[in-house]
Amino acid sequence: MNACISTASLVVLLIMISANRLCCEAQQCRPSGRIIGKKPPAGECNQENDSECCVEGKTYTTYKCSPAVSSNTKAELTLNSFEKGGDGGGPSACDNKYHSDDTPVVALSTGWFNNMSRCLHNVTITANGKSVVAMVVDECDSTMGCDQDHDFQPPCPNNIVDASKAVWKALGVPHSQWGGLQITWADA
Ligand SMILES: *[C@@H]1O[C@H](CO)[C@@H](O)[C@H](O)[C@H]1NC(C)=O
Ligand SMILES: *[C@@H]1O[C@H](CO)[C@@H](O)[C@H](O)[C@H]1NC(C)=O
Ligand SMILES: *[C@@H]1O[C@H](CO)[C@@H](O)[C@H](O)[C@H]1NC(C)=O
Repeated sequence: MNACISTASLVVLLIMISANRLCCEAQQCRPSGRIIGKKPPAGECNQENDSECCVEGKTYTTYKCSPAVSSNTKAELTLNSFEKGGDGGGPSACDNKYHSDDTPVVALSTGWFNNMSRCLHNVTITANGKSVVAMVVDECDSTMGCDQDHDFQPPCPNNIVDASKAVWKALGVPHSQWGGLQITWADA
């Protein structure tokens, strides 16, 4: 009788463990594919402000998802121009407009951009003990890259908040350090 109960509870325990694993694996964000870099045609790929260009033959990982969003989601802050002729390429995806780099605007990795659902909504970005509210205006495409539409730049990693210089200024980051910073963000 006792042996029976403990066998039954062992089975229940095993089921719980495997169900738990299924749940949490499903929540993790895994790559969706790969792109092999093509050499940008002459004159393509604006390297203004350290934008990276695709390297011929290099493998780039693509993602349709991003890490789960919380009240302090970890991300990498990068620098982007949202002005006409800047390194952001065409006008912003949310409103089909260019934006002054003196306004706090950002592009989010595909998963966080979430099919336009954060468009023109604000996020609070925190680093260095300072916070700034910025408006989401564009997508940093994690699913594609190394083509004309993406100015021959690699696909975006899935944890990027790509920000105008106004955001960097507001966070009090010295100009010489603009470009890459660990931050946290939340929906404002
Ligand atoms: C980007 O580079 C251009 C040209 O080098 C410069 O004028 C501009 O101030 C830079 N933008 C930022 C945000 O640093
Ligand atoms: C994204 O939104 C559009 C328009 O609301 C909808 O038609 C489409 O199915 C959505 N795509 C995904 C992947 O949710
Ligand atoms: C986002 O912030 C801007 C500037 O503070 C404000 O004008 C705008 O109404 C805010 N948008 C939303 C959706 O709250």
